[in-house]
Amino acid sequence: MGKVVSAHSVSVDGYITGREPGPGKGLGDGGMLFDWYFDGDTPSRVFGGFKLSEPSARVFDAAAERVGVALTGRNTYEDSERFGGGSPHPTAPLLLLSNHPAPEITERQTLVTTGIEDAIAAAREIAGDRDVCLMGGGVTAAALKAGLVDEVILHQVPILLGSGRPFFQTLPRHIRLRLIEAVPAPGVTHLHYAVER
Ligand SMILES: NC(=O)c1ccc[n+]([C@@H]2O[C@H](COP(=O)([O-])OP(=O)(O)OC[C@H]3O[C@@H](n4cnc5c(N)ncnc54)[C@H](OP(=O)(O)O)[C@@H]3O)[C@@H](O)[C@H]2O)c1
Repeated sequence: MGKVVSAHSVSVDGYITGREPGPGKGLGDGGMLFDWYFDGDTPSRVFGGFKLSEPSARVFDAAAERVGVALTGRNTYEDSERFGGGSPHPTAPLLLLSNHPAPEITERQTLVTTGIEDAIAAAREIAGDRDVCLMGGGVTAAALKAGLVDEVILHQVPILLGSGRPFFQTLPRHIRLRLIEAVPAPGVTHLHYAVER
């Protein structure tokens, strides 16, 4: 069975965007969170156009190859210009979680409006023995609260952004993490945690 994995590029102060992200504006003034995708000599086996450092490529591709569906929150969907009607992943389809209708959704995308449990059940069904990749701080927090996250991957970029959309959100209780792997790489440190249940 696949896992439910949250994977984000995050500043040291916990932001997944800079100020004023949005459609056409990407991560706002936090675009450097994605620099490590392009600052090396090793092409990704999964994402065409990505050229990473060798340690980053190893970590990134190992996770990306396992993704069977991307489950994104509405903010990620809108700020990413609805992924052009497709998916952020080259082979895995997109599932969108929202409390509201999404008339603009395409036949290549699936909307769930009945909550995080239903969204993850639907995502698992689509992913099969591959992983569900959570995208967005809000979606990740909802899944953590529901006890449905297996692993958290933080691609930690050495910058204090000072403001932006936070990855870390309020939780009703402590959630213990166990470090699986920490990989220092040029411009980023990859921190891979298992969620203890
Ligand atoms: N740095 C990175 O690696 C990275 C990765 C992914 C995304 N991002 C960026 O992060 C930003 C978005 O993150 P975010 O934390 O603001 O938002 P998000 O998680 O993408 O979206 C939050 C929205 O998703 C819906 N949602 C979340 N939990 C729900 C639940 N339990 N039931 C129903 N709907 C639920 C709600 O939409 P409704 O309000 O429509 O109900 C909620 O307002 C974007 O700018 C994106 O580009 C960065």
